Amino acid sequence: MTRTDDSEVPDFTSLLRLDGKSFVLIGAGQGIGRQAAHALSQAGARVLCVDLDPGLAEDVAKEVGGIPWSGDATARPDAERLFADALSELGRIDGLVDIIGMARYAPFLEIDDENWDWHHDIVVRHAYLAAQLAGRAMRETGGGVMAFVASVSGITSAPMHAAYGVAKAGLMSLVRTAAVELGPSNIRVNAVAPGMVWTPRISQYVDEAGKQRNVENTPIRRVALPADIASVLLFLASDLSSYVSGHTIVCDGGVAAKFPYPMPG
Ligand SMILES: NC(=O)c1ccc[n+]([C@@H]2O[C@H](COP(=O)([O-])OP(=O)(O)OC[C@H]3O[C@@H](n4cnc5c(N)ncnc54)[C@H](O)[C@@H]3O)[C@@H](O)[C@H]2O)c1
Repeated sequence: MTRTDDSEVPDFTSLLRLDGKSFVLIGAGQGIGRQAAHALSQAGARVLCVDLDPGLAEDVAKEVGGIPWSGDATARPDAERLFADALSELGRIDGLVDIIGMARYAPFLEIDDENWDWHHDIVVRHAYLAAQLAGRAMRETGGGVMAFVASVSGITSAPMHAAYGVAKAGLMSLVRTAAVELGPSNIRVNAVAPGMVWTPRISQYVDEAGKQRNVENTPIRRVALPADIASVLLFLASDLSSYVSGHTIVCDGGVAAKFPYPMPG
């Protein structure tokens, strides 16, 4: 057979590198955010480490040789100050990684308006603000990448955390729309949807028995660590994913692939 493929072969491993690139990382202080700060920095990026808690922002920035920034990413004045400061500190913004999100458990019939609005702010409002402000900056400088953290709770049902599930589904919708509108400006937008992750916050209120139930429920027989999610964020932030946009990658150890009915016998 005559070989017809003489297409150029890239150096695939170098596509993961982020040398010379500037990233804004929102929620950098602990858990998935801290691991993402290390992942981006190890790949060569300069990282503005954003956290509500100034001490955590300082600590992580020190760990990765980044720049600390403190403020509330869910509030427009702070978000505007953040991106103005990011542009003057970094010169340009090549990437945005935003990991913020939280759930407060309550039965659906007991959810009140405060709970509903709180979830909207902590899950989706900061993403809307950050994607808009970063998108405007990236459009001026030739493009960029954005990666968010969604949740399987926005894909399946979300028992006892309905408002969180609704907001994460909204976040994934925003990712699709932003990817389509910003694609022509060379901006890619994606998300990762974790299942359960053994973050510092989760490990404070799930006991060892709860952790073990999750291990047994997971085909690969372990809970996710924050670094597992940061690895997907690094892939989405790099040119290894240069043709991926508008998607949410599920990172759940195989849970969503399980057969959803009881087996016979
Ligand atoms: N842990 C899980 O089991 C799990 C499962 C699915 C999805 N997720 C998602 O993972 C992400 C969270 O990961 P985590 O538990 O590592 O993070 P986390 O909740 O511990 O928060 C990370 C950092 O964000 C900072 N932060 C919180 N609110 C902020 C604000 N308004 N402005 C700026 N900074 C703020 C916190 O101070 C903290 O240091 C969320 O989007 C969450 O919904 C988690």
